[in-house]
Amino acid sequence: MRKKLISLPLLLSGVLALSFIAAVPAAGVQYDTPALDVPYVPTTHELVEEMLKLGGVKPGDVVYDLGCGDGRIVIMAAEKFGARGVGVDLNPERIREANENAKKAGVTDRVKFINGNLFDADIREATVVTLYLLPDVNLKLRPKLLRDLKPGTRIVSHSFDMGDWKPDKEVEVNGSRLFLWTVPKKN
Ligand SMILES: C[S@@+](CC[C@H](N)C(=O)[O-])C[C@H]1O[C@@H](n2cnc3c(N)ncnc32)[C@H](O)[C@@H]1O
Repeated sequence: MRKKLISLPLLLSGVLALSFIAAVPAAGVQYDTPALDVPYVPTTHELVEEMLKLGGVKPGDVVYDLGCGDGRIVIMAAEKFGARGVGVDLNPERIREANENAKKAGVTDRVKFINGNLFDADIREATVVTLYLLPDVNLKLRPKLLRDLKPGTRIVSHSFDMGDWKPDKEVEVNGSRLFLWTVPKKN
């Protein structure tokens, strides 16, 4: 007969203890805002540049990065491409970093960071939107992009597509996929 290695009550008490430890933050530890739809994973600076090139960003453009992390996409759009930029992020820690980075780059007059939910953001003035989210978040965002953005606005996504909305262009850079769409005329 096989020996039982662990009893059920012991297993349950272990699970409970672990969930309690996870729920009580240790002193000094900072936790991300719990309701994030996407964890923070920054795009490399090299890929940021490729995203902005793919979006054809130029002076006069207004670049919105939805889920902007430390602000690197809109900061580079202002610094290297002469555009204006707005970043939106739900995590106040990211917004603090983004504002610091904008100061260091000397572009505070051309970029703005908003601490808020990307699904509630007013994105109507954007001429380019950048995304590094998740497949289901892209799909959830798609109706808002099509409803709120002006025809001709370019959308660039790092890694993830938009389901059956076929991109105008798809490129691979160092193993990462980038997608470009253009908002069509409204019917
Ligand atoms: C994968 S990171 C991308 C950061 C940046 N765009 C980049 O490419 O370097 C996703 C970001 O989205 C933010 N985020 C997640 N859910 C969000 C939401 N509902 N509204 C606004 N920001 C959100 C996270 O805090 C995180 O900074």
